[in-house]
Amino acid sequence: MNILAIESSCDDTGAAVVRDGREVLSNVVASQVPEHILYGGVVPEIASRRHCESVSGVCAKALSDADLTLKDIDAVAVTAAPGLIGALLVGVNFAKGLCFANDIPLVPVHHLRGHVASNYISSPSLEPPFLALIVSGGHTHLVNVKSYTDYEVIGRTRDDAAGEAMDKAARLLGLPYPGGLNMDKVCANGDPKKYVFPFPRVDGSEFDFSFSGMKTAAINLIHNKQQKGEPIDTENIGASYMRCVVKVLCSKTEKAMDLLKPSRFVIAGGVSANSVLRREMQALCKRKKIELFMPELRYCGDNAAMIGSQGYYEYLAGHTAGVKLNAFATMDIDNDFSE
Ligand code: KG4
Ligand code: ZN
Repeated sequence: MNILAIESSCDDTGAAVVRDGREVLSNVVASQVPEHILYGGVVPEIASRRHCESVSGVCAKALSDADLTLKDIDAVAVTAAPGLIGALLVGVNFAKGLCFANDIPLVPVHHLRGHVASNYISSPSLEPPFLALIVSGGHTHLVNVKSYTDYEVIGRTRDDAAGEAMDKAARLLGLPYPGGLNMDKVCANGDPKKYVFPFPRVDGSEFDFSFSGMKTAAINLIHNKQQKGEPIDTENIGASYMRCVVKVLCSKTEKAMDLLKPSRFVIAGGVSANSVLRREMQALCKRKKIELFMPELRYCGDNAAMIGSQGYYEYLAGHTAGVKLNAFATMDIDNDFSE
């Protein structure tokens, strides 16, 4: 089964063709980074406009790269939530038009389910059930993935997402957008023990995350240095900050592992590209004797191939939609877009 997938939830316009959920025939991404870099972050209105301009060409390129035409496409999968609403609407409306005009089934996909599915592409042997840590710019979730379409959230962030916390600190350190990625590049060789940021206390759930205290401590540290006219020490602050963020992620994950005793563990989302996180999760899983799965770096960030992979399993579960499909800025991962 060939699925044409479309992803436009944030600042990348993506289209891909994926066969039977696992084989990527093409994967095209039109990045908007050069434009948003001017503003230090994603400007939603600009993102929507660029998606409008790119979506048609990106889909045409995904088809031609796969050496296929629309006649070979059995379903169109599209990210319909969560994300920037104006950006999502571009992909959803384009997909609806394609499906209506060509009598093709339409499959709405939850963006975070797509991130999890990036691992199905990178690791052909991976099947649910497993425990997953999803770490992106907007979300930090520990999820019990019971089947391809059945999810139970074990823990989530109470405030900032891990990627957001990295992006904000990176910006203050003078690193360009996307901050998390550049912090990883610039600070990987810094001293990770030079600065210590407070480990968050989260009342109520031992699996929930919080990054705002750590972020505020980093902001205060940088401002203090600026006020005293001292050099910012970007490399060492960034390295120490990444170590602390990763420590929180690993500690909550370990608690969830002790509760659920999974045999497999998966990381997903933009922050799963982080070199410190990948290294520490390898060590944790080795210690716990749990099999670790990580997406290839090219599938960590937003891409349409992961939407095509998850779209296949949603289609098999009968999760299709009609022309009334809407996009949603927020939606829990256990929601099925039922009309
Ligand atoms: O999943 P994603 O591409 O978009 C969202 O769904 O949010 O994640 C983007 C986030 C940004 O915060 C970005 O800074 C972060 O992922 N990121 C990284 C790295 N690469 C991307 N954070 C830390 N280390 C990286 N190597
Ligand atoms: Zn994402």
